Amino acid sequence: MNEPLHNLRTVWWDSGPMLIDQTLLPATLVSVRCTTLDDVVRAIRTMQVRGAPAIGVTAAYGMALAAKLSRADVAASLLDDLQRAKVALDAARPTAINLAWATRRVLQVAERASELAIDQLRERILAEAEAIRDEDEAMCRAIGRHGADLLTEHRNILTHCNAGGLATAAYGTALAPIRTAHERGQLLHVFVDETRPFLQGARLTAWELQTIGIPLTLITDSMAGHFMQQGAVDCIIVGADRIAANGDVANKIGTYTLAVLAQAHQIPFYVAAPTSTIDLATPDGEHIPIEQRSAEEITHLGGVAIAPAGVSAAHPAFDVTPQQLVTAIITERGVIYPPFQASLRSMVEAAEQGR
Ligand code: MRU
Repeated sequence: MNEPLHNLRTVWWDSGPMLIDQTLLPATLVSVRCTTLDDVVRAIRTMQVRGAPAIGVTAAYGMALAAKLSRADVAASLLDDLQRAKVALDAARPTAINLAWATRRVLQVAERASELAIDQLRERILAEAEAIRDEDEAMCRAIGRHGADLLTEHRNILTHCNAGGLATAAYGTALAPIRTAHERGQLLHVFVDETRPFLQGARLTAWELQTIGIPLTLITDSMAGHFMQQGAVDCIIVGADRIAANGDVANKIGTYTLAVLAQAHQIPFYVAAPTSTIDLATPDGEHIPIEQRSAEEITHLGGVAIAPAGVSAAHPAFDVTPQQLVTAIITERGVIYPPFQASLRSMVEAAEQGR
């Protein structure tokens, strides 16, 4: 096992936001520095950084960068600049709620601390962004502990997209229970969906699991049903970009198909996510905005056309899995089972009170 890679940080602060450029993985592992707010917005939009918790942490650092670069010399002007930064960051990607959750949290802290001297206020804003990063890693490790307890009877696990360390501050959400079970000595094998069109499974999840030393088999998305029919899959674990108040789950396109297949084959379908992904303001999945990405990500692969020029292509980047298809939701505060609504509410309230 390669220890430095195993404990890889995805996003961090070094005089400004730093992040691993995930568009270049697995061929090249390089970090990029964001020196302007536009750099941060672009990194999120172009998916140099991606995964709901990771873009939340990045956006929090984006707010700290906006505060650092602001020329304001009174709190009111700094808060105006932060409000503008929040609007720009929130617009970078619409589906993952962690982004707006993080920018709102930083802004609220700044508003509450507005009596501080301006430089202390800037420090307070950065401290909150650092707290969001640190808490995210701690939440992922707690998800790992709760989720691993569910996996003791399972050996072959299927996952979709990348909900590993790269999608969070560190350690991952859907991969966290797998990693913890592996660290406890359990023998596991993971089916990794390649996850068309951005190939987060093939490029990122396969790379992470291989680096950690967890056995995996890479499959195309369309093979998942076949392996379930063969009895080769014991359970499915995915992450989430937003969980509505009723338990409906938005996650990477293709997740809904897996949930339907899981139900057809009576395989548990688990969702792993921190409470920062639960959005009580969105009543159900119908109200979750689904990001539509460019058709070129479908018609081209690695810059090479794989479809006739001019063909029409659709690219919803996420889909919604109705809560009835979800066996359990694994959070940092424990595992919850249907009906989800009341448990989700009390988890979010407890998380807010705990801060
Ligand atoms: O478009 P992406 O790569 O940002 O989508 C990521 C996912 O859908 C993940 O499954 C989700 O964010 C959970 S990550 C811990």
